[in-house]
Amino acid sequence: MHNTPILVIGSTGKTGRRIAQKLRALGHTVREGARQSSIPFDWDQPATWAAALQGVHRAYICYAPELAFPGAPEKVEALAQAAIRAGVQHVVLLSGRNEVHAQRCEAKVQASGLAWTILRASWFAQNFSEGHLLHPVLEGVVALPAGNVQEPFLDVDDIADVAVAALTDARHQGRVYELTGPRLLSFAQAAAELSAAIGRTVHYEPISLDAFRAGMTPAVGPDLANIFTDLCEEVFDGRNACLAHGVQEALGRAPRDFADYCKATAATGIWHAVPLAA
Ligand SMILES: NC(=O)c1ccc[n+]([C@@H]2O[C@H](COP(=O)([O-])OP(=O)(O)OC[C@H]3O[C@@H](n4cnc5c(N)ncnc54)[C@H](OP(=O)(O)O)[C@@H]3O)[C@@H](O)[C@H]2O)c1
Repeated sequence: MHNTPILVIGSTGKTGRRIAQKLRALGHTVREGARQSSIPFDWDQPATWAAALQGVHRAYICYAPELAFPGAPEKVEALAQAAIRAGVQHVVLLSGRNEVHAQRCEAKVQASGLAWTILRASWFAQNFSEGHLLHPVLEGVVALPAGNVQEPFLDVDDIADVAVAALTDARHQGRVYELTGPRLLSFAQAAAELSAAIGRTVHYEPISLDAFRAGMTPAVGPDLANIFTDLCEEVFDGRNACLAHGVQEALGRAPRDFADYCKATAATGIWHAVPLAA
């Protein structure tokens, strides 16, 4: 059973990299599913999917770049059908908490005929260290259209632990896990905890949606800037300003705290790198 490969789509990303490592540590065979993998997987090239799925019974599905992008539900649906044709039995979908577009992707997987587990993740703590906010943290100013909203920042290691449990234990099939961290923090409070751990000030600057869109447009173009701005408007409206218990339900333990994430990440030195040009 351990020799049947588990496909990890997004295996070079924040969640997939950890999931692949943890599965290997448990003795499972992992098939990496990214564009440069030995058997490449590309969401934009469906011709790559059959080879990536061949001989696989279980798969982690991480859609890239974002579940909110146009076409995501259709691609997730087509992948689920390809998975059934390949003999896959169970998939674990990474989803977004209270995100309308993500829920359309969930519905496609749930209606596919595959056994499924859905991981509805809240905002990742690792966005500050492995994502688009690393550079702003290095520069000392994180500007977001998040006002004073509170977020239950979620440690990606907890997502990975839940995903690994779901991929390796059939008791998690048919479950929707709403994953949050253990504490609500505003972005100003998060910046204060980052500052304390790093040893220099990281300032949170609340900005308007229009300022966020305008700041992003030169880098990614107007279409993507609109999508990311709409996503911020959706998820920062207070809908996620409450805790959920998916980590406890799935793993029987509390989720990791944001302060522990800050301390452990500061110790890696990532926040002491010289800022690169944006
Ligand atoms: N960030 C958050 O706070 C948050 C919260 C809830 C849900 N989410 C969801 O989390 C997902 C992102 O997960 P993540 O943060 O673990 O990933 P990530 O760090 O953004 O990395 C993206 C992964 O997808 C791969 N990838 C990129 N483009 C691809 C393509 N065209 N075809 C195949 N693979 C591609 C990348 O590999 P290569 O570049 O090597 O191919 C990489 O492995 C999104 O669906 C997002 O909606 C995010």
